[in-house]
Amino acid sequence: MPLRYIAAFYALAYSVVALRASRHATQVRRLDANSTKYDFVIVGGGLTGLTVADRLTEDPSVRVLVIEAGPFDEGQRAVLVPGAFDQSEIPYYWNLTSEPQTSLGNRSFSVPMGKAVGGGTVGNAMVFFRAAKGDYDSWEALGATSLAYDTLLPYMKKSESFTAPEQSFAEKGNVSWDESNHGSTGPVQISYPNYFYPGSANWWNAALETGFDSAADINNGNPIGISWFTTTVNATSRTRSDARINHYDIVAKTRPNYHILADHTVTKIILEGNKTVGVDYQPTAGGNSSQIHATKEVLLGAGAIQTTKLLQLSGIGPRSLLESLSIAVVSDLPGVGANLQDQPNGVVPYTFQDQINPNADDLISNATFDTEQEDLYYAKREGAWTITRSFGETVALFSLCDATADCQGMIATAREEDPAALLPAGTDATVVAGYKAQREQVLEQYAGDNVPIGMIHWTTGGEAIVWLQRPLSRGLVQIQSNNALDNPLVDYRTLTDPVDLDIAVANVLKNRQIMQAPSMAVLGPSESYPYGNNITDKDQLKSIITSNFGPTTGHVCCTAAMVPLDKGGVVDTEWKVYGISSLRVIDISTLPMISSSTPMATLYGMAEKIADVIKETYTTA
Ligand SMILES: Cc1cc2nc3c(=O)[nH]c(=O)nc-3n(C[C@H](O)[C@H](O)[C@H](O)COP(=O)(O)OP(=O)(O)OC[C@H]3O[C@@H](n4cnc5c(N)ncnc54)[C@H](O)[C@@H]3O)c2cc1C
Ligand SMILES: *[C@@H]1O[C@H](CO)[C@@H](O)[C@H](O)[C@H]1NC(C)=O
Ligand SMILES: *[C@@H]1O[C@H](CO)[C@@H](O)[C@H](O)[C@H]1NC(C)=O
Ligand SMILES: *[C@@H]1O[C@H](CO)[C@@H](O)[C@H](O)[C@H]1NC(C)=O
Ligand SMILES: *[C@@H]1O[C@H](CO)[C@@H](O)[C@H](O)[C@H]1NC(C)=O
Ligand SMILES: *[C@@H]1O[C@H](CO)[C@@H](O)[C@H](O)[C@H]1NC(C)=O
Ligand SMILES: *[C@@H]1O[C@H](CO)[C@@H](O)[C@H](O)[C@H]1NC(C)=O
Ligand SMILES: *[C@@H]1O[C@H](CO)[C@@H](O)[C@H](O)[C@H]1NC(C)=O
Ligand SMILES: *[C@@H]1O[C@H](CO)[C@@H](O)[C@H](O)[C@H]1NC(C)=O
Ligand SMILES: *[C@@H]1O[C@H](CO)[C@@H](O)[C@H](O)[C@H]1NC(C)=O
Repeated sequence: MPLRYIAAFYALAYSVVALRASRHATQVRRLDANSTKYDFVIVGGGLTGLTVADRLTEDPSVRVLVIEAGPFDEGQRAVLVPGAFDQSEIPYYWNLTSEPQTSLGNRSFSVPMGKAVGGGTVGNAMVFFRAAKGDYDSWEALGATSLAYDTLLPYMKKSESFTAPEQSFAEKGNVSWDESNHGSTGPVQISYPNYFYPGSANWWNAALETGFDSAADINNGNPIGISWFTTTVNATSRTRSDARINHYDIVAKTRPNYHILADHTVTKIILEGNKTVGVDYQPTAGGNSSQIHATKEVLLGAGAIQTTKLLQLSGIGPRSLLESLSIAVVSDLPGVGANLQDQPNGVVPYTFQDQINPNADDLISNATFDTEQEDLYYAKREGAWTITRSFGETVALFSLCDATADCQGMIATAREEDPAALLPAGTDATVVAGYKAQREQVLEQYAGDNVPIGMIHWTTGGEAIVWLQRPLSRGLVQIQSNNALDNPLVDYRTLTDPVDLDIAVANVLKNRQIMQAPSMAVLGPSESYPYGNNITDKDQLKSIITSNFGPTTGHVCCTAAMVPLDKGGVVDTEWKVYGISSLRVIDISTLPMISSSTPMATLYGMAEKIADVIKETYTTA
């Protein structure tokens, strides 16, 4: 290891540690938490929890406690440095396994979810882009008027500081953006890497050859086309901008009223009748329970799985489920835990006759290249280590009719399906009604050309990844006992609507089309097992997808949806839980449908909006 690298690395590590030590002023121990009165108790110190905590504590008279099951991270390279990103070295995820997926060959999958101060933003892939305007429009049409595009756009801008790339680099790399879409004073740092692998040009041109246009700005509400994606990376330090850094560390010193109790797990919401008064919690490592009271509200930001679990354990959920577990029903809400969505995806492996080096795989296979890029990163914050390790820089987002000439046939098939029959047996009529309304929106999007239904990413190495951005299938989360320490059942029910499988085939074939276009063909790519360029039979492709796709991108959502009660809703347009006072759900659970993007950009904006809605509640009251 060259000496200059060691010096540079310790310089970075030192600055991180030094900053963090002084930022812990408001990290509280359990006893302190117990002896302080809080206006708001926030359950879950993830993306949304910390954003709301930050904004509420801007008023020094408002006292907020965040209780987070996971720890503060230790500033590891695998967390902070894009080029060192490695999930296997990041110890900040929950350990949960899904039900066997009947439409994925009965395989079970790990359920990726962040568990740290910062939640998912500490160990995620940092891919950041807003949804299509049509996503926000569809949420609005389903009743989530607070998620309308014009409502959230100013908040999405407020949340971010966007740093544009250097003009000459942008021109060389085909990076395009429109500064007027972006914020420049928010805490979440957004930027593009400052390097691209040479093969990126081949893929870019191949996509153009198959009819893609380049999108003007992936964040402008019309992301269809090929684009560089923005990342949650501080453009100066070239390190991760996670919610712990951008909504806690940078304000902690000046906020004696902002407390975080890490390593503690909330086990129940304490209700007096239908009024929320506090929560039960205990050390995550095990130990006695305590209670904490909130004089104003409890805000649930525990993510789509754990928020569902807490609601159900506390008597807020489907009556039949609660009664079967001897839990007293406080609010019978059939929608709690229903409507689970994520973005299924699969890797198509490739070999090349004439692959171009360097590419993303060389960071793994060529130690000389990896060290050279590591040195460059620590010396000048440049090069391949500014990109999330194992990824390239660009994506293709496309509509259904871009993916396949058979789009109208698929839409017609979907129209003939019985929505009720596609949901788990015994699903409540209100949830079915909500699902029917969603399908109307989805099928309209399938017929249109402004909401992506698929995404393709070539890493520049031996993998292309193909996603379903807008699936029709719906899963569920349910507690299996009234013991707060037991894991809930998570069933993604991926591809249980057969139309999703048809779309997966179309997306795999779309990827093949790009890879076979002249600019990629010069590299001599061929799909490897279990795929193969000569496998064109749709049934054969379906069987490969069934055995090889996975159910999740870590974007699990929508299990406490903001839709009307008669559509299976759980929260109203102020994120308040129906039938309960002083309780809101503030996290990704409240989206009515998954966004066709990655979720962070929308969630940071949504959490900013929620903070304002809460502030208004108490200034006008
Ligand atoms: C592996 C992975 C990769 C991803 N990649 C991307 C990406 O590239 N781009 C993108 O936009 N999104 C990505 N995501 C998704 C994104 O991180 C999440 O959608 C986002 O963090 C959700 O925000 P949230 O506030 O709803 O929940 P989270 O950020 O998940 O926060 C919930 C927090 O609540 C805590 N908690 C849960 N239960 C309890 C309890 N009972 N008591 C106390 N605390 C509790 C959790 O430990 C967690 O810290 C990824 C996620 C994962 C897991
Ligand atoms: C917290 O306070 C409650 C009473 O409000 C008490 O019963 C409990 O033992 C206290 N817990 C701790 C850890 O101090
Ligand atoms: C994860 O859970 C499984 C089964 O519930 C258990 O066997 C395993 O030890 C756990 N792993 C970790 C790292 O906690
Ligand atoms: C999956 O499991 C179900 C129930 O156990 C069974 O009926 C079905 O045949 C299995 N499918 C596959 C592909 O193994
Ligand atoms: C950028 O686009 C032009 C064509 O518009 C193409 O010639 C060039 O190779 C592309 N480069 C990259 C890095 O995508
Ligand atoms: C971004 O990184 C620079 C350099 O380390 C640092 O000075 C700055 O405070 C960071 N910005 C934020 C918002 O964290
Ligand atoms: C838990 O509570 C029991 C009974 O009150 C007490 O004896 C024990 O010391 C407590 N344990 C801890 C770790 O506080
Ligand atoms: C490995 O990387 C080094 C440094 O970039 C380069 O000179 C060398 O050609 C690469 N080796 C292979 C086999 O690609
Ligand atoms: C496709 O090609 C591979 C290798 O060239 C061969 O092994 C396989 O049998 C072929 N499959 C079909 C369906 O022709
Ligand atoms: C709580 O219950 C009371 C009495 O039944 C009712 O009047 C009130 O509307 C309920 N609160 C909410 C938020 O539903």
